[in-house]
Amino acid sequence: MKNILITGGTSGVGFAIAQSLAGPRTHLIIVGRNQSKGLSAIDALGPNTAFVSADLSTAAGLTILTDFVKSNVDHLDALVLSAGVMPIDQDQNIQTNLVSHFNVVTGLKPLLTGGKILLVTGNPQAVQRMPICEMQNTQVARAGWLLTHKTLLMVYLAATLEDQNITVNSFFPGDVHSDLMPYTRSLTKTAVPVGKYLLTEPSLASATGTFFDDQGQVVPLNPRKYSLAEATKVLSQYLPI
Ligand SMILES: NC(=O)c1ccc[n+]([C@@H]2O[C@H](COP(=O)([O-])OP(=O)(O)OC[C@H]3O[C@@H](n4cnc5c(N)ncnc54)[C@H](OP(=O)(O)O)[C@@H]3O)[C@@H](O)[C@H]2O)c1
Repeated sequence: MKNILITGGTSGVGFAIAQSLAGPRTHLIIVGRNQSKGLSAIDALGPNTAFVSADLSTAAGLTILTDFVKSNVDHLDALVLSAGVMPIDQDQNIQTNLVSHFNVVTGLKPLLTGGKILLVTGNPQAVQRMPICEMQNTQVARAGWLLTHKTLLMVYLAATLEDQNITVNSFFPGDVHSDLMPYTRSLTKTAVPVGKYLLTEPSLASATGTFFDDQGQVVPLNPRKYSLAEATKVLSQYLPI
């Protein structure tokens, strides 16, 4: 039995990945804030699925999740970080789209030895081209901030979790039907096969610190822009690293 935790697994990208992984040999734990969405999701996913209602941007929500996971499984094979919002301001962007991911990983790291972490990011060209900039005064600036800073987080976690044999990668899911914003509600694509591919493809078993597109192809990242030194310098403004 594989134990897989998907934050944001109650809708959109996270739910699509949960659907692709659900089955008799998978124990899925999905997380979201909205109780009724979570209960509908586990109904649709079938047996071996648990829902945790927690706001991961808060200390209380983080404790609810880590307590639940630690009392229900002795290890995690994979952690998919798909919880996210279209932020209305800088604080929400920092707390929900960056700090919460770091805190979930920190809280569950002991259970992840030998496992895989996947971070959902966004459009490859935007990740490659957007500058790393701390200004978040417009929606476009906040979107650029979240893509670049999540990529820096992937680079930082991949390097610092290597000694625990935990791989950390990020990927673009494609343009997927979701609750994120009016535009994504109008999309028709409801499958995200790249999530399962990155978790199960044998040739990628030891890949880490890599960004993939929605076809599972490696997207090259500028090694100076997305270096461990840059990640540590930039992220230390927001995270206790
Ligand atoms: N959809 C796309 O086309 C697309 C493209 C590129 C990247 N992405 C990225 O994919 C990720 C998922 O977005 P989505 O499009 O799938 O949107 P979505 O349908 O709104 O899913 C977001 C998920 O995150 C959960 N969530 C949000 N804030 C949370 C919090 N504070 N604590 C716990 N759970 C929280 C939501 O649960 P509740 O609703 O219960 O809060 C929901 O399960 C985001 O990072 C987004 O930027 C999406």
